[in-house]
Amino acid sequence: MASGFAPGKCILFGEHAVVYGHPAVAVAIDSGVRVKVGQSEEWTLEGIPFEPSKHPHISHILNTVFEYDGPPLKMEVKSGLFSAAGLGSSAALSNAIGAALQAHINPSQSLDPIALARMGHSAEAMAQKGRASPTDTATSALGGCIVVSGQQVEGTRHVFDAELETPEGLREWSINAVDLPDSLNEACLVIGFTGEMSSTGKMVEGVAKRLEEKPELQGEMDAIGRITSAGLTAMSAGSLEAVGMAMDACHEKLQLLGVSSPSLEALVEAARPHSLGAKLTGSGGGGCMIALAREPQRVAEAIEVAGGSPLISRLGAPGVRLLED
Ligand code: PMV
Repeated sequence: MASGFAPGKCILFGEHAVVYGHPAVAVAIDSGVRVKVGQSEEWTLEGIPFEPSKHPHISHILNTVFEYDGPPLKMEVKSGLFSAAGLGSSAALSNAIGAALQAHINPSQSLDPIALARMGHSAEAMAQKGRASPTDTATSALGGCIVVSGQQVEGTRHVFDAELETPEGLREWSINAVDLPDSLNEACLVIGFTGEMSSTGKMVEGVAKRLEEKPELQGEMDAIGRITSAGLTAMSAGSLEAVGMAMDACHEKLQLLGVSSPSLEALVEAARPHSLGAKLTGSGGGGCMIALAREPQRVAEAIEVAGGSPLISRLGAPGVRLLED
């Protein structure tokens, strides 16, 4: 069987502010989704009959992207990500199935991560009523550290541009990569899942409402933009302490925007004594927090004691790839 793997992601800086035109910085993580595809007598997913309407990402990639009309396929999906937790599990699924299908249909062709990122973005857009940022799919496809912004960001390497016709009009993004210095490998990210699922759409809506009621919150949004720039500079310089400080500062601003929750606060508080920095990641209101730590195992234990589920990852894992069966 052809086997594709795509990593999940977490946002280091810039969540919510990215909706208002500021850049967001995301890193690929070690955990992800593995998809195996092989020819079969009948269409199956995990050994049971495949129902396309229940799996919009898979159906979109099969039918619209690959226009697959070959013999039935058996598909196996194994995810190492918490779902609906801000770790980009649907983007990783889309990228992994794209990779596995390409390897099955055309084994001699090498993988093109940008083409897979575009493919995954179109699947996300289709599944989310035309509203999807390319952050998750681009980070999962390209790996490493990715900056998504309205325009190119200084100090980053431009990789490609993405656009999407949304219900609110055409949206355009610049996708940029940051080359991370080796010194950042001295620390790991510890992701802590609160166990509470969170809806990105609802959280974004809540922030928009609070901004309308209290226009002065725009100042916090602009501050997140400045912290994101400082965080990026710290990453490029390989200064773990400064990255951690920017994470703490970003969390404080996200609290003021009202997107933290008691469960996120409990995990951030548990992680901080053993970390260089800690913050919620993604849309908030549940989902996950992240901590940067030189002794990740200690932080993972503290998160577990505080009731969370930990995952340890490098800061910027490799992107989509084919695996040996
Ligand atoms: O929860 P996630 O990882 O899907 O991140 C959402 C990030 C937001 O900035 C809150 C929303 C967005 O569309 O960028």
